[in-house]
Amino acid sequence: MQAEFWLRKWELGETGFHQESVNESLQDWWPSIHAPAGGAVFVPLCGKSMDMRWLADQGQKVVGIEVSPVACREFFDELQLKPDIEEGGAFRRYVAGPFRILQGDYFAAGPADLGPVSGFYDRAALVAMPPEMQPDYVQQLVDLLPTGAVGLINCLEYPPELMDGPPFSIREAGLRKLLGPRCHVTLLSAREINTEGTNLERKGLVGLAETAYRVRVGD
Ligand SMILES: C[S@@+](CC[C@H](N)C(=O)[O-])C[C@H]1O[C@@H](n2cnc3c(N)ncnc32)[C@H](O)[C@@H]1O
Repeated sequence: MQAEFWLRKWELGETGFHQESVNESLQDWWPSIHAPAGGAVFVPLCGKSMDMRWLADQGQKVVGIEVSPVACREFFDELQLKPDIEEGGAFRRYVAGPFRILQGDYFAAGPADLGPVSGFYDRAALVAMPPEMQPDYVQQLVDLLPTGAVGLINCLEYPPELMDGPPFSIREAGLRKLLGPRCHVTLLSAREINTEGTNLERKGLVGLAETAYRVRVGD
């Protein structure tokens, strides 16, 4: 899934992945992640997710990366915030209140672009990457995060023969292998998701589970 695929999805308004409500696993598990209070949370491939607003409501600062300018604009418009827009380098930066969204390519980012972050949250980001891109995605995530960073990663599990992703199915063993020995991974929950009436059902998926993992980046 190259960036052009996603840019087009946003231009056409084909954003079935976007949730109008805050992700349940985030609400259930974020408090037990123990991300430093008031610290910045990195949200890779953030779209215009309302989960960022929820994180800000918990007192976190939020640093997102998103390739689509449409998503960035809609995020701030829907919150009725007027961001300052800073140009320069690989990113256009939208800044308002606790939010800093870097519009550009995730793979072009370095730790200096993010600034200090102590937590991270991945929903529909790793699973949006096809299997051949997942190792690079995870390597970049670990390279961007400081040692000691803690976060929540949501994955989806379904029989892969039922549907072509995105989203792609990632099971626990696969996630552990991708993250490698530096990351400490704890499975927190596996929640059945009802696909009835959704795009996923139309693509052939009748049942899937959303799994939530606590991940800590070690030395
Ligand atoms: C499935 S959506 C998930 C969005 C968000 N995490 C959510 O929960 O709604 C994946 C997002 O990743 C963005 N994206 C894909 N490739 C990217 C890249 N290389 N750099 C930055 N953003 C990217 C897409 O534009 C899209 O908004």
